[in-house]
Amino acid sequence: MGKALEDVRILDFTHVQSGPTCTQLLAWFGADVIKVERAGAGDVTREQLRDIPEADSLYFTMLNHNKRSVTIDAKNPEGKQVLEALIQKCDVLVENFAPGALDRMGFTWERIQELNPRMIVASVKGFGAGPYEDCKVYENVAQCVGGAASTTGFDDGPPVVTGAQIGDSGTGLHLALGIVTALYQRKTTGRGQHVLAAMQDGVLNLCRVKLRDQQRLERTGVMREYPQHPNGTFGEAVPRAGNASGGGQPGWILKCKGWEADPNAYIYFITQAPVWAKICNVIGKEEWATDPNYATPAARLPHLKDIFAEIERWTMTKTKFEAMEILNKYDIPCGPILSMKEIAEEPSLRKTGTIVEVDHPVRGKYLTVGNPIKLSDSPTEVTRSPLLGEHTDEVMAELGYHPDQIAHLRVVGAI
Ligand code: COA
Repeated sequence: MGKALEDVRILDFTHVQSGPTCTQLLAWFGADVIKVERAGAGDVTREQLRDIPEADSLYFTMLNHNKRSVTIDAKNPEGKQVLEALIQKCDVLVENFAPGALDRMGFTWERIQELNPRMIVASVKGFGAGPYEDCKVYENVAQCVGGAASTTGFDDGPPVVTGAQIGDSGTGLHLALGIVTALYQRKTTGRGQHVLAAMQDGVLNLCRVKLRDQQRLERTGVMREYPQHPNGTFGEAVPRAGNASGGGQPGWILKCKGWEADPNAYIYFITQAPVWAKICNVIGKEEWATDPNYATPAARLPHLKDIFAEIERWTMTKTKFEAMEILNKYDIPCGPILSMKEIAEEPSLRKTGTIVEVDHPVRGKYLTVGNPIKLSDSPTEVTRSPLLGEHTDEVMAELGYHPDQIAHLRVVGAI
């Protein structure tokens, strides 16, 4: 079966997490992704957080599947010529260097357009144009400047960053959408364009509901579904809401049987309005279904703390999986807090290819997250990440270099 992007060739100048997430997705959809790395060292993540000496780390292998690796010294004059040949042959250049690094290599937007006017140049940067545009940015910085940290955690504690890599992987996802959109537009214009996904913007996009709440707060001074209501106070900015649900259906994380010993024996419970009567039945508070203090969503808002305490008395008598099974029978939305161990061992995720076991010549077998986006006509096969420079000769030959020329470029350190 064909792949959605199989005629697309990508010059992958990315490193660390945000850029590689993007190009890995494109590779899974069938693009030929040629990752350019520095000889000797390569992407810095190859050796970060290593669990096996001398083997590419899981950090690297889990972000660079289905790619080819070539080593080119972008600052060597003959290495630059090889890069120019690649730019002429590829459809997209993806990069996430610090601001200005690509220009300093001599590959300005103008130069790239001169070499290949159809080329799409896609960049991840920390910030868009403005006072911070020259700053280097990593994941947690993006979470802090994009509004996630100030709105995550509990009201009586400091800002908290989340384990989900919304700054890096989140921005990589945004960039991938920008690239396929630019490829689509190129069909009619024939021109390339620059695609920018700033990490601050990507995180803010994912925190959209909090900017919604900022404006609600300014208008009304109170947000009734927040845990600060009715007992606490609101300040000028959206407060941290603990585990409250971001939508109109109140939710909270509740203890389940075994919580004293198991840090993940909890369930997320949503008191969705259409199933309120069923919730009352399940927890043995049938009278709440008709009591005017509890019968409507608006009446319940001032009592949420007590309501969740009462529901928790019930969830504590069940394991998180037992509670899930019972609640699902009544269409009550809920979700057990799954540990990474439970997720890694979950058979249904293996079956759908969301968790995949991959074999690597140096590190052996390891688990990875496969393609989370499933296309019925473009199935994903997850293949291992390349060794450093594994495909240099192959790609050079495809560019038309003779073995003698390749040997020469190696001697002068261009590749
Ligand atoms: N040949 C020669 N030089 C190369 C090269 C190659 N193949 N690949 C990279 N380099 C050089 C670059 O040209 C740059 O040199 P310069 O500073 O002299 O111009 C140098 O390597 C370092 O690149 P840089 O991007 O500055 O790396 P860093 O390790 O100092 O910074 C980040 C890392 C992630 C902070 C930075 O790249 C960044 O802010 N990126 C944008 C935001 C981003 O993606 N952040 C999330 C990362 S998950």
